Amino acid sequence: MNAATLIKENINDVKDEDSNIYVELKNVNKNFGDFKASDNVSFKVKKGHLVGLLGPSGSGKTTILRILAGLETADSGDIFINGKRVNKISAQKRGIGFVFQNYALFRYQTVFDNVAFSLKIEKWDKKKIRERVHYLLNLVGLAGLEDRYPNQLSGGQRQRVAFARALANEPQLLLLDEPFAAIDAKVRQELRSWLRELIHNVGITSIFVTHDQDEAFEVADQIILTNHGKIEQSGSPYDIYINPQTAFTSKFIGHPTLIKNLNTLRGFGKTPDNIEAVVRPEFISVARTDEKFQYSASSDKGVVVDAYFRGAVIELHVKVGDNIFVVNRQLAEGRIDVGESVYIFISRVYLVNALKAQTYINEALKQKNEVYII
Ligand SMILES: Nc1ncnc2c1ncn2[C@@H]1O[C@H](COP(=O)(O)OP(=O)(O)OP(=O)(O)O)[C@@H](O)[C@H]1O
Ligand SMILES: [Mg+2]
Repeated sequence: MNAATLIKENINDVKDEDSNIYVELKNVNKNFGDFKASDNVSFKVKKGHLVGLLGPSGSGKTTILRILAGLETADSGDIFINGKRVNKISAQKRGIGFVFQNYALFRYQTVFDNVAFSLKIEKWDKKKIRERVHYLLNLVGLAGLEDRYPNQLSGGQRQRVAFARALANEPQLLLLDEPFAAIDAKVRQELRSWLRELIHNVGITSIFVTHDQDEAFEVADQIILTNHGKIEQSGSPYDIYINPQTAFTSKFIGHPTLIKNLNTLRGFGKTPDNIEAVVRPEFISVARTDEKFQYSASSDKGVVVDAYFRGAVIELHVKVGDNIFVVNRQLAEGRIDVGESVYIFISRVYLVNALKAQTYINEALKQKNEVYII
């Protein structure tokens, strides 16, 4: 292949990639007084993807959705939907459906009328409205409940009506702001997988705000992590989980514990002093000192100071020097009690300085040339 074809192919790659992008924010800023609610926010969302916008309270998630929707005006930056700059286009004309946390349905209207609301405004033909509402109620699993009023529905059913209403006039982009926040844990779990399936079936590009990581990891094709108005990291759930790039990401994702001085532990060589490290329970294995343990030569000895029964696993808190590590022991691996001596083997840690996170793998795994992933 000569250089000219190579360049041409690369150009085509870029084009393909761009034509696949449905939403793009470029250097978007939004201040409320002196407060930066969006700080140079840029990201892209592929057509048909379901994106989880994840971050702590006040980190700017809702602000991003409102700017995208046209309910808030950005101070600077560009907003593109389907390749078109929409900064000056009104909310009604952006082709967006919304589901909000407490997206109250109209209390005195039936399920049918709630779903038909935007279609009536758009003056759809009556027969067409009936067909569309029935199609949507079928889609969200509520066929037959047309004549109910919102107070005759469960929380989960109400939220499904809100989905049907948001999808009614065939938006090309669906924005969901903590749609399950007011719903109890069990139903919430069911709705998550339901939502993922629904969105992929309908094929609509969606952005879903949550501050619940489990929800984001389970549902999303891509995760965008927000912190103090900035995009901290964006990528596939797997990438965000296993390759945190910043101090914030490595401390926010999973259930990390801080290691005070990594140099006092085995397996990581000489690491810089005065630099923090974090580890997650799934990167630590534990064994009683009388058990056969593959990596005992690269393990640290500690003592169990707390044990919590969590059903399938026992959560052990193991004291090693100045550190207390949280480790999950499978119930099937046998019981370990408070006060017992144990070995722990740490496979992976993240070293963090003010800005960056770096992955360190235990040397025992590197020597054996093993690939050890979670
Ligand atoms: N209209 C407004 N006027 C002043 N400050 C605002 C306004 N809207 C949002 N803010 C501030 O901007 C910051 C980001 O708010 P935003 O609602 O986007 O956060 P969030 O990530 O959605 O938080 P949560 O998870 O609590 O919903 C907050 O500190 C909030 O107080
Ligand atoms: Mg919010």
